[in-house]
Amino acid sequence: RFEDITIFVTGGAGFIGSAVIRHLMADTGARIVNIDKLTYAANLDSLPGAVGHPRYAFEKQCIGESTGLRALFEKYQPDAVMNLAAESHVDRSIDGPAEFIQTNVIGTFTLLQEALRHWRGLTPARRARFRFLHVSTDEVFGSLGANGMFSEDTAYAPNSPYSASKASSDHLVRAWRETYELPTMVTNCSNNYGPYHFPEKLIPHMIIRGLANEPLPVYGDGGNIRDWLYVADHALALTLVLEHGTVGETYNIGARCERSNLDVVAQICELLDEISPGITGSHRGLISFVTDRPGHDRRYAIDPGKIERELGWRPRETFDSGLTKTVRWFCDNRTWWQDILDRGYQQTRIGLG
Ligand code: NAD
Ligand code: DAU
Repeated sequence: RFEDITIFVTGGAGFIGSAVIRHLMADTGARIVNIDKLTYAANLDSLPGAVGHPRYAFEKQCIGESTGLRALFEKYQPDAVMNLAAESHVDRSIDGPAEFIQTNVIGTFTLLQEALRHWRGLTPARRARFRFLHVSTDEVFGSLGANGMFSEDTAYAPNSPYSASKASSDHLVRAWRETYELPTMVTNCSNNYGPYHFPEKLIPHMIIRGLANEPLPVYGDGGNIRDWLYVADHALALTLVLEHGTVGETYNIGARCERSNLDVVAQICELLDEISPGITGSHRGLISFVTDRPGHDRRYAIDPGKIERELGWRPRETFDSGLTKTVRWFCDNRTWWQDILDRGYQQTRIGLG
């Protein structure tokens, strides 16, 4: 698969981008160019096996900077772009939205412009094959009540600076298809989890704090519901969309794994009790309810019917198997996350309680 194809993966040093690159390197013959600005969330240690490989190149580059981007399009002549570069943390967008507008909106716009310029210069055969796949989130749809699921036709209603910036980027991608005929596709997925997840996100945050016997801060009443997707299953879905998706379409990606935050944290506690019994009593005793996130969406749930029907995608992991693998990975790979903690990163005000 993907023999003689060059793929730009933006944000390839991040959580999902690195999973996509690990998957493409292992399961396809594609040449990969990882384009990443290396923000606080990036980590090239998440790409063991890629660095030094003849099919892999890394370019430190901001997607909002057109001159450098243009030079990369000219140098590598890619057949596809998978855009995963973004500011991704909701709490951080509440503290400081500017960077989210800059990368997620202006950055996507700049990348689209340079991709379009490149695409227009290709031969007709290569132009027909070229794809621009934009990776987005279920948060653009806003918050659900107790019933229903997000489909590809759900109206956009973003509630945080992060989701508003992602919604803007999705609209830009759609417009570049409709107006300029750039062959774009958009995916909207639910909450990812798995190995190499940055420590500020719920699941790694709770595992790492649990291992250190520190309080586990649950926002509000813990009743907010997220729909969990194992990151390797997401990488598989994105590759399928790139290969077989229909230009101009959007695909929702989710694994039908709705859980309340409190249930997720309680399950992590049980796994830690089993795998790393380091405290007296259960890790559950560490759960502590803290001030809620402003504008906290109550429930997300993705209907993945379209990608299942049209592309035959199915997740390999259940939430139980995926969470067990994840907790074990964090227990077995302490150096990966301890290095991040030692380097330090800006805490959000919400995270500080
Ligand atoms: P992440 O924060 O882990 O990684 C983002 C990567 O993008 C980092 O390596 C960072 O250095 C890079 N980056 C940031 N700004 C850049 C810029 N201006 N130019 C070049 N590189 C830049 O994010 P993630 O969780 O891997 O998310 C990847 C994409 O998937 C994002 O678009 C995000 O909105 C979307 N998404 C994530 C989730 C999730 O649960 N993590 C769910 C749905 C959608
Ligand atoms: O839904 C997809 C989105 O999932 C992605 O678009 C985002 O990029 C990704 O960061 C994630 O956003 P969330 O806000 O859902 O993820 P986060 O890990 O920050 O929080 C998950 C839930 O857990 C949320 O309801 C807030 C809550 N939470 C989070 C942290 C960090 C806590 O209760 N305590 C915490 O310490």
